[in-house]
Amino acid sequence: PVLVVDFGAQYAQLIARRVREAGVYSEIVPHTASAAEIAERDPVAVILSGGPSSVYEPGAPALDEGVFDLGVPTLGICYGFQVMARALGGEVANTGLREYGATDASIVHDESVLFDGQPVAQNVWMSHGDQVSRAPDGFDVLARTGATPVAAFGSDSRRLYGVQWHPEVKHSDFGQRVLENFLHRAAGLPADWNSGNVIAEQVERIRGQIGTGRVICGLSGGVDSAVAAALVHKAVGDQLVCIFVDHGLLRKGEREQVENDFVASTGVRLVTVDARERFLTALAGVSDPEQKRKIIGREFIRVFEQAEADLIAEAAEEGEPIRFLVQGTLYPDVVESGGGSGAANIKSHHNVGGLPEDLQFELVEPLRTLFKDEVRAIGRELGLPEVIVGRQPFPGPGLGIRIVGEVTGERLDILRDADAIARAELTAAGLDSEIWQCPVVLLADVRSVGVQGDGRTYGHPIVLRPVSSEDAMTADWTRLPYDVLARISNRITNEVREVNRVVLDVTSKPPGTIEWE
Ligand code: XMP
Repeated sequence: PVLVVDFGAQYAQLIARRVREAGVYSEIVPHTASAAEIAERDPVAVILSGGPSSVYEPGAPALDEGVFDLGVPTLGICYGFQVMARALGGEVANTGLREYGATDASIVHDESVLFDGQPVAQNVWMSHGDQVSRAPDGFDVLARTGATPVAAFGSDSRRLYGVQWHPEVKHSDFGQRVLENFLHRAAGLPADWNSGNVIAEQVERIRGQIGTGRVICGLSGGVDSAVAAALVHKAVGDQLVCIFVDHGLLRKGEREQVENDFVASTGVRLVTVDARERFLTALAGVSDPEQKRKIIGREFIRVFEQAEADLIAEAAEEGEPIRFLVQGTLYPDVVESGGGSGAANIKSHHNVGGLPEDLQFELVEPLRTLFKDEVRAIGRELGLPEVIVGRQPFPGPGLGIRIVGEVTGERLDILRDADAIARAELTAAGLDSEIWQCPVVLLADVRSVGVQGDGRTYGHPIVLRPVSSEDAMTADWTRLPYDVLARISNRITNEVREVNRVVLDVTSKPPGTIEWE
C-alpha cells in the first residue's frame, strides 16, 4: 500500500481517500510507527500528512527519520513537508508570517515530475505558521508564494518531494494532479485499485476465512450491513443467513426494501423477525430519551440473539455449527480505535437462549479497509438497490428517538407519513447529495391551534432538521430552497391529518445535536 503517516490532524483520512481515488490502495499509519515497522508493511510510497502543530512546539509529533532512508518515494504535505525539510538538513523558520486559505503559488521549476503538465500559476490552499526557509542540499525549490520562498521542493533522483499547501483539499485547484503525478509518475504506481478489484480480493479473503463454515449477519436496512452481507453472499452463497429485526421504528418502506429489493438483487437467505408489538410494549409510558435508547438497545439484542439461537440450533441439527458473524465495520472506525491490522476480532456473545454464555463467533469484516463512499461504490457494483446504497445515516433506535414524548403506534404512523413526504420531496428536488441527513421529528406532546377549511384544528408540529456535515461530529443546517420547503410543508399539512404546523430547525451542531433526542 501507499502509507499515509498521520500526524494527528484530520487530514490523513482525506489524503488516503484521494490516493484511492487516484486508483492506488492506501492505508494510514500513526507517526509513532518506527521506520522498521513502516518498512515491514512494504510501502510502495509514503505520504506525510499535515498536522496541528509547529515543529518547534514542545511535544510536536515526530517521525523516525529512518523513513527517509528506506528508498521509498515520499511526499511531505504541510507539517509533513516541514518535518521532511528538517530531517534532510533544510531549515524551518518561525517567521511570524501566516498563510491561511486560498493562496497564489508559482511553480518555479516545472521540469519536476510533480508539476508536469500543470500551469505555473496555481491557486492552492494553505494553513501554516512556520515555513521552510531553506530547502535541503541537493533539492530543487519547486514553488513559492508571496510569503513563502520555499513552498515546494523535491528531488526527482531521490524521489522525495514536499509541498507546503494541502493538495488533498478541493480548494487546491490542481491538488489531485499533484498527488497523481507523485503516485503515477514519481513512484511509478499504476491506477489499478477499483471496486471490481476490491470485490474480487474480498471474495477470495472471505472464502479463505470461512471455508465451508456457516455464517450469520444482522441487516439494519443501512448501506454497511447490506454491502457486507452481499459480499459475503457472493463469496459463500447460502452458507450465509441474514437476520432482520423489524422493531416497528423503521421508516416507511424500509422493511420492504430489505425483504424484497435486497433479497431480489442478492439472493440472500433472510429471516425477518417481526418484533413490532414487543418494542411498543417495552416503550409504553417512556418519554426520557436515554431510557428509550436503553430499552430499544436491550430489546434489540434479546430479539436478535433469540433469532440467532434458533438458527444455531437448526444448523447444529444439520451438523453444521455457525461459527462466524458478519460486521460492517468501516476503515474510519478501525483508524480511530487505533487498530491497524486485525486487532480484537473475537466478540463474545452473551446469550439468552440457553446456550453457553461464552459462545463465540469469529468476526468477518469485509469492509474493514474501506471508506463509506467506497462501500457505496461496491454496493452499486454488486447491483444493490439505490434506496439502500444511497441511504442517509439513520440511527439504530430509529423513529423512537424522533418522537419527542412517548412512542405509540399511532404517533409512529404519523411520523412515518410525514417523513416519507419530506424524503420524497428532497429526492425529487435533487437535494440528496447536499444533505447529510434530514431527521423529521414529531413533537408529540405539543399542540397548537390552526385553521383548516372552516374548522379550527389542534394538531402537532413536525420539525424538519436538514443538516450538512462531513462526519456528523459537527454539522450546519442546510439552506434548503424556499420552494422545496413550501412543498414539503403544504404536502405534510394536507396529507397528514394530525399535523397542522411544519417548522424548520436552523441550529448548527454544536450547540444542537443532529437528532432531537
Ligand atoms: P447527534 O444527534 O449526536 O447524531 O448529533 C450524530 C449522528 O449519530 C446518529 N445517532 C445515532 N445512531 N444510535 C445510532 O446508531 C443512536 O442512539 C444515535 N443517536 C444519534 C445521528 O442520526 C447522526 O447521524
